[in-house]
Amino acid sequence: MNKPSLQVYRRLLRYSRPYYGRIGLAMLGSLAVAGVDVASAQLVRPLVDKVLGAGNYYLVNFVPFIIIGLALIKGGGRYVQEYFIKTAGQLVVQDIRNDLYEHSMGLSMRYYSRNTTGGVMSRILNDVGMLQRSAADVLVETVREVFALIGLTASAFYSDWKLACVAFVVLPAAIVPASVIGRKIKDYTRRSQATMASLTAVLQESIAGIKVIKAFGTEWQENNRFRAENLAFYKFIRKTLKYDSISAPAIELLGSLGIAGVFWYGLHRVISGAITQGELFAFGASVLLMYGPVKRLTKVSNTMQRSVGAAERVFETLDEVPEIRNATDAVPLVNVKGEVIFDRITFSYDEEPVLKDFSLVARPGEVVALVGPSGAGKSTVSALLARFYDPQEGSVSIDGMDLRKITLESLKNQIALVDQETFLFNDTISNNISYGRRDASDELIKDAARKAFAEEFILEMPAGFDSRIGDRGVRLSGGQRQRLCIARAILRDAPILILDEATSALDSESEAAVQLALNNLMKNRTTFVIAHRLSTIINADKIVVIEDGRIQDIGPHQELLQRCSLYQKLCAMQFRDME
Ligand SMILES: Nc1ncnc2c1ncn2[C@@H]1O[C@H](COP(=O)(O)OP(=O)(O)OP(=O)(O)O)[C@@H](O)[C@H]1O
Ligand SMILES: [Mg+2]
Repeated sequence: MNKPSLQVYRRLLRYSRPYYGRIGLAMLGSLAVAGVDVASAQLVRPLVDKVLGAGNYYLVNFVPFIIIGLALIKGGGRYVQEYFIKTAGQLVVQDIRNDLYEHSMGLSMRYYSRNTTGGVMSRILNDVGMLQRSAADVLVETVREVFALIGLTASAFYSDWKLACVAFVVLPAAIVPASVIGRKIKDYTRRSQATMASLTAVLQESIAGIKVIKAFGTEWQENNRFRAENLAFYKFIRKTLKYDSISAPAIELLGSLGIAGVFWYGLHRVISGAITQGELFAFGASVLLMYGPVKRLTKVSNTMQRSVGAAERVFETLDEVPEIRNATDAVPLVNVKGEVIFDRITFSYDEEPVLKDFSLVARPGEVVALVGPSGAGKSTVSALLARFYDPQEGSVSIDGMDLRKITLESLKNQIALVDQETFLFNDTISNNISYGRRDASDELIKDAARKAFAEEFILEMPAGFDSRIGDRGVRLSGGQRQRLCIARAILRDAPILILDEATSALDSESEAAVQLALNNLMKNRTTFVIAHRLSTIINADKIVVIEDGRIQDIGPHQELLQRCSLYQKLCAMQFRDME
């Protein structure tokens, strides 16, 4: 095994540490199995020389008992080995999967915008699944087979050292192709796992987008995409299977050449009287019994290569450093007044800057509205405040504290966000509202629902607050979903509120009602409102007009109407729409 593979393997092995007890037991079991093999080889000699050769019929009756006894020991040993090593393997896989999940949860938004959902899922499910027969398993099996090999080698030398010398020059030739094959297998496993990720991505995307697919009648197109990925996966798997299947026959063939020569020589030695028949048989049994361990060792090495291939992908993700994390000297943010300052921000998702020289001050309790054409950068401003990303230049601060100096946990506690894209969990209404505040009483949850004008439709549902709303809330209308998200933010009761198109899916009547509730909510909180419908933001303390990532103007409604041409244009467009 080359050096990087060895490192990966060591790292895998480190996960086995908590399960040394199980692994130790499995090791003992495996030694019993190997011991029985060695013992059987050596028992052949007295069997041939003393029982058959000497015609000792009295001993014949013992033979069945010895065979059964050995089989019992071997069977028991194998059971202990298999059971404990397999459970240890599963526990290790479980730990790695938990680690990977937790680490993935900690990764930043940028990671998720670069990777597909299916790809991330595939690493956590499929790549980790590949490690099933993982490090510990391989280790125990290797120990067992190596122990068996040493014992059988000793047994062969003990039977006839001259013959053994000849054999051990010829037979190891069989090992050479095994290492070549192992490397191929690792390579193809890595690549097959990558196609498995694409396959999962297609699957995930088509299930999530089933409505669009059905509406456009493009099932066939998705079927073809899936078939193509599935075929690509098969092609890589076929290659690993090919190498996996060739390794045993290759060894057998090369081995048989050696064995043919060795036995020819051995038979000569018996006839010339150099060794007894029993010694030749014991020698033969030892060499033949080595077949199994050698063959299994190459299989084990193939398995290991496969694990290493998958583990490399897993560790790649585990080594991904979250872009947004707590600074070493981060302090918690408490007793927030709610002053938010964006100071000369330049920010880009990729190369092209999305916000340019963006400066904005929101005093505690102020309502700041962000308006501008689609794609201007409004949601990006809210993403920076929630610290989904860090700006490349400039800083965002709350109460004079740079966000990068604040612990993430405390920052998130100060912010309630109703996002442009509503997201609800496949859970009850009540749990969706109290998400992020699991300690909230039923009273508080009901109160939040009432304020968000959601109580009425909730109570009309069969199980009221305990109704389940389906995957991402599919069983609700767009407006109902939005009101649940608002209720969630109301319950969160944070000093800084971000409403990104929070009421866009409501009709004018409910919007006006929800607006009243939001107006109540905004009291004593610094609020950022993003809305296309300008009627909802006329009363904001400040309206910030953004175009193409730059601030065009800031001011109250009346002033902007008089002096900002873009704002006039936006208003005129709405006015026309209303007519
Ligand atoms: N995750 C992302 N990765 C790369 N580019 C992005 C990402 N999110 C947004 N952008 C780009 O940044 C620009 C600003 O997007 P943003 O979402 O802030 O616009 P917006 O003003 O909220 O628009 P809308 O009113 O349509 O919601 C857009 O040009 C968009 O293409
Ligand atoms: Mg937006």
